[in-house]
Amino acid sequence: MVATLIWAESGMYGGSARVTMFVQLFLPIAALFIGFVALLALSPASVSHPISTAELVELTALLLVTLVVSALVLRKTLAPLRELRVVMEQREGVSAPGRARVRRDDEVGQVALAYNGLLDRLAAEETRAAGLALTAQERERQRVSRELHDQVGQTLTVALLRLGRVVHSVPGELQEDFEGAQEAVRTALQEVRTVAAQLRPGVLEDLGLAPALTSLATEAAREGTLEVRRDITEVTGATPDQELVAYRIAQEALTNVLRHAQAGSVRVTLRSEPIESASGGVQLVVEVSDDGVGVHGPAGTGRTGMTERAALVGGQLSIGPARADDQRPGTLVRFCVPVTTGDREESAS
Ligand SMILES: Nc1ncnc2c1ncn2[C@@H]1O[C@H](COP(=O)(O)OP(=O)(O)O)[C@@H](O)[C@H]1O
Ligand SMILES: [Mg+2]
Repeated sequence: MVATLIWAESGMYGGSARVTMFVQLFLPIAALFIGFVALLALSPASVSHPISTAELVELTALLLVTLVVSALVLRKTLAPLRELRVVMEQREGVSAPGRARVRRDDEVGQVALAYNGLLDRLAAEETRAAGLALTAQERERQRVSRELHDQVGQTLTVALLRLGRVVHSVPGELQEDFEGAQEAVRTALQEVRTVAAQLRPGVLEDLGLAPALTSLATEAAREGTLEVRRDITEVTGATPDQELVAYRIAQEALTNVLRHAQAGSVRVTLRSEPIESASGGVQLVVEVSDDGVGVHGPAGTGRTGMTERAALVGGQLSIGPARADDQRPGTLVRFCVPVTTGDREESAS
């Protein structure tokens, strides 16, 4: 019966023999008990009644050996389970790096494998959900942009035209007020157009990333407060989502330079670079580097959003000093993301 149990538990399924935990625990403990009984049966030792002190010492010693060996076997067999529990408890998030180590082809190994599989599926689901969130956010921005442009913009245009018609026929003392109102409406219209254009990167959809970044740089230069240099080369192989994220990161980084950096100049770079790792490949790199006061203080929604967006498309974002100069270290915002190369596309097709 015991043999049948061991046979069933040793899991001769699927042609692969597995030494199950049951067998790992049962066999050494069974061997111990058999040895214990054999020793009692075959040795001249006997247990009298009432038990003598020498017999009690012998029995206690045997019992201690049995307990210690059993404890060691249990400890060794259950150690991977403890390790797995620690890995599970220490995990900080689904996409955090690190997987459970799969060391043995028994139940613990199987649980570790299943746990790793579950993590992979959850991470894939998280990426998919994040992608959906990004798409939803962009769609909402487009809707708001359209409404600003078509409705608020339209109303302001009508107001501007009406003011234009009456401004010359109002009495002289009101002339100045009317011209002021006309100017205010014109400025509001311009601001609405700028906000609408920022919300919806039409140039990105129509012309691609390189012209879109060039246009961002030109807009920043138009502010007139800093010199903007461009070092922009076309990069192929990026997905639309990756391009959108690259654009949004450059947009936020440039806004931050204008708002916070007190910089004299900024350089916007787009290029492809070989990835320096064993897996190789090519990555798209966007850099916005200024010569301002450098980043101090905690991240706000802009910096956090850049990091989150980068992660959404499998990229990396770093924000740090542009130079080793304590007085004016400047700021370098660097986004890189692996893209498909022509070679890979060919081999994939
Ligand atoms: N290029 C930069 N130069 C200097 N400081 C910067 C730069 N970019 C960001 N910062 C600092 O980081 C802070 C957080 O930036 P951000 O997360 O974009 O939020 P916000 O722009 O709304 O303040 C800013 O308030 C500023 O102090
Ligand atoms: Mg900001």
